Amino acid sequence: MKEKTGQILINNIGNFISGEDMSKTLGISRAAIWKDIAALKEDGYEIESVRKKGYKLISLPEIFDKTGVMRYLNTEYIARKIDFFKEVDSTNDYAKKIAKKQKEGTVVLSDCQLKGKGRLGRTWISKKGQGIYMSIILKPDIQMQKVSFITQVAGAAILKALLLNGVEAKIKWPNDIVLNGKKIAGILTEMNAEIDRVNYVVLGTGINILNKKFDEEISKKATSLFLEGYKVDKNKFAADYFNIFEELYKMFLVGDVTEVLNVCRQYSAVIGKEILLINRDVSENVFCEGIDELGNLIVKYPDGNKKAIFTGEISIRSNHGYI
Ligand code: BTN
Repeated sequence: MKEKTGQILINNIGNFISGEDMSKTLGISRAAIWKDIAALKEDGYEIESVRKKGYKLISLPEIFDKTGVMRYLNTEYIARKIDFFKEVDSTNDYAKKIAKKQKEGTVVLSDCQLKGKGRLGRTWISKKGQGIYMSIILKPDIQMQKVSFITQVAGAAILKALLLNGVEAKIKWPNDIVLNGKKIAGILTEMNAEIDRVNYVVLGTGINILNKKFDEEISKKATSLFLEGYKVDKNKFAADYFNIFEELYKMFLVGDVTEVLNVCRQYSAVIGKEILLINRDVSENVFCEGIDELGNLIVKYPDGNKKAIFTGEISIRSNHGYI
């Protein structure tokens, strides 16, 4: 029903229309109109309500789509081609299907994923309109061992895009972005390679933007920009990320990782902390000393031994929760 109420407001944009008039036109109660208005506001409609005057639509919500993103884009080749979906199983899976025939920089972007994938076989909650779900197809001419560093390039790019939009988050090495101690974004880097060459990399990123709530268990460790009190334009944010990513990625390709490391170190959620390092069934308490020039995490064991941890199948927890 809110669509019909919304349509009346759109027809009268900039002018007040009383709740009574709307309820008569639609044949529903004023309480129902009030409920629709609340729902429309949640969807991003800006509506002014004034007693005795009624409701005035001030602006419509942004439409998240390819044109919207392109408007803010200033890249050379990242996201110059975007395959945009209202709904797709997983942008990473779709990107992998088309990767061979696509140029480097092609992006698969969706407003919803039916089978969003996280790391280590987990699910990534990807409800309609709640987040940004995107995958970039990359074809770097690099050694296979260097591919995992691209995750950190992406992490630094998300962090910087958030800063540009007034949000100061942290990076939980190597691939989670956290805000106020909970995860708001994750990165899933997948690769197709032969022994001596990388065919393509699919760099998938999911960002929780508008989620209003998560299931009880997940809500202990996940959050969204909305829940933390931030409002960002999804089109602009996605473009900001692509713009910054391209800049950092180009530097990475010529061997300059200074800026990525600076960001990963300065905004690290784990450096200087005791953490639990989980590798399959083995958990160990270690102290995080820093990130080395290759992007490895330098940890110190209780016996004083130090080790560089490579971004493999490793999970990190704080001793008392997510981070
Ligand atoms: C993680 O933190 O476990 C990684 C989450 C990665 C989620 C993104 S959403 C876009 C892309 N498509 C997927 O199916 N997964 C990644």
